[in-house]
Amino acid sequence: MIIRWQYSFMLALLIGFTVGCESQSNTAIRQQAQLEAEQSLKQAAAEMEMVTAQVGQVAVAVMTATAGNKTAGTVTFTQGADGIAVEATIRGLTPGDHAIHIHQFGDLRLDNGKGTGGHYNPQGHDHALPSTEMRHAGDLGNLTADADGNASYSITINNVTLDGAHNPIIGRGVIIHAKVDDGGQPTGNAGARVSQGVIGYSQPSDG
Ligand code: CU
Ligand code: ZN
Repeated sequence: MIIRWQYSFMLALLIGFTVGCESQSNTAIRQQAQLEAEQSLKQAAAEMEMVTAQVGQVAVAVMTATAGNKTAGTVTFTQGADGIAVEATIRGLTPGDHAIHIHQFGDLRLDNGKGTGGHYNPQGHDHALPSTEMRHAGDLGNLTADADGNASYSITINNVTLDGAHNPIIGRGVIIHAKVDDGGQPTGNAGARVSQGVIGYSQPSDG
């Protein structure tokens, strides 16, 4: 597990640092270094606890069709140790690829999906497909509908948190578009918004 490894690494650093400083026979420097190392250890432990507490937490966006469309389904977001697993199960699409994004607002009051604003982009990156690390936090790529209009899509992402300090997604919107996200600027040329939902807290998946 990555976090545990980091913790061990910090411990090794602390020991190494302490031993290394002995040769300088400077008590003040050594004590300062020890203090800083201990603070780093405490911080690492606190971060580990925080991530552990969130593992297994689930959020869900219930997707409903915008005006004139039939696209609906669910998108779940499950916090794992290595990121958030996004799983979309959608029906009522035209066959082929359709963009799926997290949008800025969880506001469904407009029946054309535009109340959700633009792509969720708290870090000010350019739009891109998920193969590009530096992208809008909401860029989830494309799902592919079969001949019957059904799509199942899974992707694991590390650029957001459910409700943590880093790019929280709870309460924001999810949009599925009429067309494919081609990765172009500014938003992938994905066309109309055919389905919209809000990311909310879910009952646990095993509950
Ligand atoms: Cu979108
Ligand atoms: Zn985008």
